[in-house]
Amino acid sequence: MKTLILLLAVISFAYAFNLGIGVPNGSKDVNIEVSRFGDIKSITRKLKSGGTQVWNLTGPNKGTWVDSKGKKIPSSNYSFKAPGSIVIKKVSKADEGVYDYEPLTTVKPEKLPPGVHVDPHQQGVELSVL
Ligand SMILES: *[C@@H]1O[C@H](CO)[C@@H](O)[C@H](O)[C@H]1NC(C)=O
Ligand SMILES: *[C@@H]1O[C@H](CO)[C@@H](O)[C@H](O)[C@H]1NC(C)=O
Ligand SMILES: *[C@@H]1O[C@H](CO)[C@@H](O)[C@H](O)[C@H]1NC(C)=O
Repeated sequence: MKTLILLLAVISFAYAFNLGIGVPNGSKDVNIEVSRFGDIKSITRKLKSGGTQVWNLTGPNKGTWVDSKGKKIPSSNYSFKAPGSIVIKKVSKADEGVYDYEPLTTVKPEKLPPGVHVDPHQQGVELSVL
């Protein structure tokens, strides 16, 4: 029983863990991998300075950051790299925040044993600019 509780504690820790990377201001071609598998509908970033932006992989706003008001953000310094990374050509303090994604598919809850909860994806990558 003790082992089981310990195991559960370890599992929930793993799911709550935010990956973090820190890079110096001005770093070039910084690769932020939000998904290792590419099962991505869109990438999101929650900026430390405030606000959330979305990067759609399809549709009219494909390949550009769009803020919560639907305004396009100039995004020539960013590119998407398959299967699941955003590449920042030159990092600035304004890029600080948590990068995450919306998956294309979600885990069907009925396939899981009763009482088991699985988060659909990792909790994001926190970028710090040093
Ligand atoms: C980051 O670097 C840019 C030049 O590449 C500079 O203009 C800016 O002031 C720097 N910001 C910080 C917080 O050091
Ligand atoms: C992204 O695309 C979806 C449809 O695939 C659309 O509903 C959504 O509004 C788009 N978001 C942005 C920010 O363009
Ligand atoms: C892209 O980066 C270059 C070099 O740091 C900078 O001069 C330019 O203003 C940036 N473009 C955008 C749209 O932020």
